[in-house]
Amino acid sequence: MNTYQRQTLTQYLIDQRRRYPGATGDFNSLILDVAMACKAIARQVALGKLADTPAAGATNVQGEEQKPLDVLSNEVFLRTTEWGGHLAGMASEEMDQPYDIPAQFARGKYLLVFDPLDGSSNIDVNVSVGSIFSVLRAPEEAVAGALTEQHFLQPGAQQVAAGYALYGPTTMLILTVGHGVAGFTLDPNLGEFMLTHADLRVPEETQEFAINASNRRFWEPPVQRYVDECQAGREGPRGKDFNMRWIASMVAEAHRILMRGGVFLYPPDNKEPRRPGRLRLLYEANPVGFVIEQAGGRASTGRRPVLGVQPEALHQRVGLVFGSRSEVERIERYHAEPDGRDIVTPLFAERTLFRAA
Ligand code: AHG
Ligand code: MN
Ligand code: MN
Repeated sequence: MNTYQRQTLTQYLIDQRRRYPGATGDFNSLILDVAMACKAIARQVALGKLADTPAAGATNVQGEEQKPLDVLSNEVFLRTTEWGGHLAGMASEEMDQPYDIPAQFARGKYLLVFDPLDGSSNIDVNVSVGSIFSVLRAPEEAVAGALTEQHFLQPGAQQVAAGYALYGPTTMLILTVGHGVAGFTLDPNLGEFMLTHADLRVPEETQEFAINASNRRFWEPPVQRYVDECQAGREGPRGKDFNMRWIASMVAEAHRILMRGGVFLYPPDNKEPRRPGRLRLLYEANPVGFVIEQAGGRASTGRRPVLGVQPEALHQRVGLVFGSRSEVERIERYHAEPDGRDIVTPLFAERTLFRAA
């Protein structure tokens, strides 16, 4: 099939809009603005050191070093979407406070939440990175002009749309508007995202897991049990061998899982007991979780569906397990069993009176 015979993102959105006869087209325009931001970021990522990105950023609200491309990608999202009149505000991994729409622009009925560049520790080593976005309905008072952080604190199940762009060998946009998951590949000659994966589904079974195994001593027992069983392979309780992957770019892991199955775990670890996990609920766990669930997979905190978590803060972190449904459900079962107790601090674990079995 030639490119010109494929649907563009615009055509796909118009098709989807037919489900809503009263739709104004605002939503479609917003998604196209987000797609534009991703295309612009893809170009900057592709240039690498050839791009004259701004001087290195400070540290962000997470206390993490801001790479120049983190700062630039954040700017691209703001400039590309603030003007269109579809938003009442935005929130980003790279901004401490919510971003109000400047007075010179009309306000709209959506909120945009995003991680402008995910996996940015991989930029310098030329490994795939991505952008993650989530669209929420803006409460009336936000649309009217009184935007607060509270307006963003909506459970993931309330997302109107979500997706990610993956800046890999090809640039892809993965999108759900609540009726399954579609994949688009950027045709650099046309500058258009072309529909290449009309109805993505996460394979129910898998033999591939992704976790940062260097944190094993900090995990809760159910996670240690799950990973140990995978590593025990066919001689162990699972009766089959597993493969392990860890790219340190969640978007790349999510995409692999969407394409061929698998399970991703970033559980709470007590490396930093105050931190209930590494990944952020609003702009990492919820959008990726929405995509995975819409594709028939499951997204969990390890104990409960992540899309049901009521956010309490903009940059709140959460334990995250997602992927092939049967594996995520197994991990949730392990957490539910009597020994699914909370974190055992390594100090006491090492000092236990009982010799390890
Ligand atoms: P970000 O670059 O936006 O801070 O996100 C990085 C996240 C996620 O993409 C990845 O899975 C995880 O951090 C990697 O964590 P470790 O470096 O601890 O493995
Ligand atoms: Mn991220
Ligand atoms: Mn990021």
